[in-house]
Amino acid sequence: VAPLKVGIAGLGTVGAEVVRLIETQARVLAGRSGRGIRVVAVTARSKAKKRGVDLRGVEWARDPMALATHPEVDCFVELMGGAGDPALSAVEAALNAGKSVVTANKALLAKHGLKLAKAAEKHGGALNFEAAVGAAIPVIKTLREGLAGTGIDRVYGILNGTCNYILTRMEQEGLSFAECLKDAQRLGYAEADPSFDVDGHDTAQKLAILASLAFGTKVAQSAVYVEGISSIAPEDLRAAADLGYRVKLLGVAVRTTKGIEQRVHPTMVPKSSSIAQVMGVTNAVTIDGEGIPPITLVGPGAGGAATASAVVADIADVARGIRANPFGRPISQLRDTKKAPMERH
Ligand code: HSE
Repeated sequence: VAPLKVGIAGLGTVGAEVVRLIETQARVLAGRSGRGIRVVAVTARSKAKKRGVDLRGVEWARDPMALATHPEVDCFVELMGGAGDPALSAVEAALNAGKSVVTANKALLAKHGLKLAKAAEKHGGALNFEAAVGAAIPVIKTLREGLAGTGIDRVYGILNGTCNYILTRMEQEGLSFAECLKDAQRLGYAEADPSFDVDGHDTAQKLAILASLAFGTKVAQSAVYVEGISSIAPEDLRAAADLGYRVKLLGVAVRTTKGIEQRVHPTMVPKSSSIAQVMGVTNAVTIDGEGIPPITLVGPGAGGAATASAVVADIADVARGIRANPFGRPISQLRDTKKAPMERH
């Protein structure tokens, strides 16, 4: 069988790690996929930057669009980020050409996910985005495949590594918000524009994606109420601690009689609760399903290696010929988040 030919747009910490994993894990991946996986072309802002990966024999495409429509590329891997162009046009073009797309771009999916899923459905390509939420934690697959037979009532958790890292260090070391944010940026956890992290938008984007998968609704970031952590000071955390609480930035999506409620805000959680034990860059997602005790997934929610791990797993699914409905159901079955009342779906 011919190898799957991959084109990667964006060679930052995640992109470079994807190239490295495809090489070092080649045997395992080929075993699982039944065919090889080969990076044939890439594109990035700087060709000269040192990345520590071997790109000999790999073509440099002129720009993301040229890569997305490259006749040799079967699977377009979008790791540039951003809800608009060049990511949007390139992903759309790849899907419209019948190619499969793997992306870690939560902003793009939360804003344009429905449109992109329609293009994937129409032209037959896969649209995989496990890395968009909770990095290495397989939460998309859990909701889409693992719990496909379960009615879901609530999904909530810590979905932004940067915020949890900041809150943890502020609480434990009494450091200022600004100092902690700088470290999160240095460690490669934060978004290019870190206000997306600290103002809660990154959590909102991820929550919107999880809510769509959990409840069969049309993904819509605009349906999420958002409040971030930028006005929280070490004293606030100390005051909460005195009362036996810890502050966490939570994303919560819950079925109500008025439809699906989605919100992101700092929340006081009892120190003894399991969510209060989630520290540092770690993410945690809890899923309350019908008739089963809550399921919690915990793991690294940001960083190059953790994100690349999920991207490569998505590429392996494409190589194997697995194609899921991006949001778990055919587009025609997805409903509006505000349609009330919501029965289990
Ligand atoms: N900036 C994000 C975070 C990266 O801190 O969680 C992973 O999506």
